[in-house]
Amino acid sequence: MSVMQLRAKKVVVAIFVAVTFLSEAPSAFSQKISPVAARREQVQAVVREAYDKFRSDTSGKNADYIPYLAQVDSKLFGVAVVTTDNQTFSLGDIDYSFSIQSISKVFTAALAMEELGVDKVFQRIGNEPTGRAFNSVNAVVDMPTHTGNPLVNAGAIATTSLISGQNANEKWNKILNFYGKVAGEKLSLIDEVYKSEAATNAGNKALSMLLAKYDRIYADPFESVDIYTKQCSVGVNVVQLARMGATIANNGINPKTGEQVIKREDVPYILSVMMMAGLYDGSGGWAWHVGLPAKSGVGGGIVAIAPGKGAIAVFGPRLDEAGNSVKAQKVIEYVARKLDYNLFSPASFGLKAGVGQ
Ligand code: DON
Repeated sequence: MSVMQLRAKKVVVAIFVAVTFLSEAPSAFSQKISPVAARREQVQAVVREAYDKFRSDTSGKNADYIPYLAQVDSKLFGVAVVTTDNQTFSLGDIDYSFSIQSISKVFTAALAMEELGVDKVFQRIGNEPTGRAFNSVNAVVDMPTHTGNPLVNAGAIATTSLISGQNANEKWNKILNFYGKVAGEKLSLIDEVYKSEAATNAGNKALSMLLAKYDRIYADPFESVDIYTKQCSVGVNVVQLARMGATIANNGINPKTGEQVIKREDVPYILSVMMMAGLYDGSGGWAWHVGLPAKSGVGGGIVAIAPGKGAIAVFGPRLDEAGNSVKAQKVIEYVARKLDYNLFSPASFGLKAGVGQ
């Protein structure tokens, strides 16, 4: 081979390598680089700071309308952040399984969107704030849709009634398996919570009958309440809950298993309902102070989503008047502020203070 031929061959090889790198680099790059990788220590430090700062906060009180929840140790406290590239930062009572309660409503809504499409879910359930308590009867009577949105009890029971299956057991197993896929591991019912709640859920049964009066429930009302009560009694620890949130943050792909478990195109609708009603009557103040879609449960959990970045889940059983964990709200607000997670802040788009002014 002449020197010229050798040079030409080298140039061809160099071009081939460059083209291969350029065509593959962006996707490989975006998958491998963590949105928080550069700030791993910072995330760890902020989670630790928040944990220490609010650890001894005793404001609020356990839910007591479900007898099991009244006797949960109110000092239990766990914090977890799971990122979209599956890094986990956690502290406190991270192995304790608490009942997911109303946070389940987000995932049953996601399953209904998967089965029916978002338009049908919107037509049948709606997406308006009720301005009332999560279990309000008046909201069902007063609102034009009667269901309100998928995150209040009436709307959630109606959403559960949309899930298809030959019988109640098939529907329930479908919901439970779906939650497990979103969490990236098998989840199960806390039987004592279910029994405690099933024995005291006359209010939810009444809501379901009221929905039947308005033709806004889509399966047998009491069967739907029973499946709904089971979904609320699913046990999660704070890391599993954060991973469920991180799956939404990761456009529906579970960061642990890599499985697309929620449709990518459904994610904006899920986030919108969380932003609008995730903390019930506390949602406006939450949007103002924190600016992240989130969902609370009377079991004491809250999960907040930082789209594209990850999710923060906190467990602390003491609740405020609206039924939202006090400690969880404080910790998430602190962490979100320190890490510039607020969706409405220019920093969340990568803009530094002063840019564009
Ligand atoms: O139906 C209920 O009342 C409970 N299973 C769930 C309510 C709930 O978690 C409200 N959230 N903050």
